[in-house]
Amino acid sequence: MKDILVIDDEDSIRKVLSIALQEKGYNIFEATNGREGLEVFKQKKPEIVITDVKMPEMSGLQVTREIKKLNSDVDVIIITGYGSEDLVIESLRVGASNFIKKPILLTELFKIIEDIALKRESKKRLEVAKDVVIYEKKKCIIGNEIKKIWSVVNQILFNISPFFEKPTYEGLRIGLYEIIINAIEHGNLGITYDDKNEALNSNTYMDLLEERIKKAEEEGKKVQITSTFENNIFEIEVKDDGNGFDYKNIPSPNDPDKLLEAHGRGVFLTSIYYDEVKYLDPGNKVILKKQITKPL
Ligand SMILES: Nc1ncnc2c1ncn2[C@@H]1O[C@H](COP(=O)(O)OP(=O)(O)OP(=O)(O)O)[C@@H](O)[C@H]1O
Ligand SMILES: [Mg+2]
Repeated sequence: MKDILVIDDEDSIRKVLSIALQEKGYNIFEATNGREGLEVFKQKKPEIVITDVKMPEMSGLQVTREIKKLNSDVDVIIITGYGSEDLVIESLRVGASNFIKKPILLTELFKIIEDIALKRESKKRLEVAKDVVIYEKKKCIIGNEIKKIWSVVNQILFNISPFFEKPTYEGLRIGLYEIIINAIEHGNLGITYDDKNEALNSNTYMDLLEERIKKAEEEGKKVQITSTFENNIFEIEVKDDGNGFDYKNIPSPNDPDKLLEAHGRGVFLTSIYYDEVKYLDPGNKVILKKQITKPL
């Protein structure tokens, strides 16, 4: 996963992203508008596309739609600023994998790309039984090993993949990943949004993780994931051993104005991909629901 296409009409943003990503070892292609972006995409076939959402002629939403039509495996990251919240939400609904707000924090972008790399790696290993669906209640307990999350996500979801179109299924994978990482990071490890940002910016995030994981292990904190599939509704419960949080303030995807005010993006993404994301008191238990849309 070394090729990334950056589409933005603003020269300065393109340049900053290109230089930063090249330093990280990526091979960057640039385009100044959507149409040119699609041409470059067809020629170079990058695995990741980063596109501004608001551009003259062709929006990032149209770009996402076209790119996902050409290759549904590509990961699209949307760059967004104030006033384009609706376009971002729509782009996520048609298959974008994530979004980043302007002004762009490079550490945040690197993290998104790293997560995508892990997701792509786990997908390669995914074996899907295309024609049979056997779904039993599943229960899975993991410690605080972030590296194992994708494997858990795949285990929980792989039997239901035949029921969904590819982009929807991909969205379900991303959404569940976000909830499990929250359960570990914020729940069991008690790392707040501010702790995390501060540590990311001072490059001490790994140390913080290590220290908190040690403590959580000593205290026996785990994450428990249970899933059921009944009456065409797929339901997953994720429970951590943390203290919970004030979940009522989390922005809803039906309230796009709040999108850019929000802290993180995990819960928001999950609520785009699932029909229901419900926190139970005190906030350390989440229920995700998704109705199947494509009966076999
Ligand atoms: N299981 C949990 N326990 C405690 N707090 C949680 C839990 N899940 C979410 N939160 C709180 O909700 C906030 C929003 O979560 P969200 O996933 O949307 O963003 P984030 O995790 O801060 O950042 P990102 O997911 O973009 O890396 C978190 O910052 C955290 O304060
Ligand atoms: Mg999160």
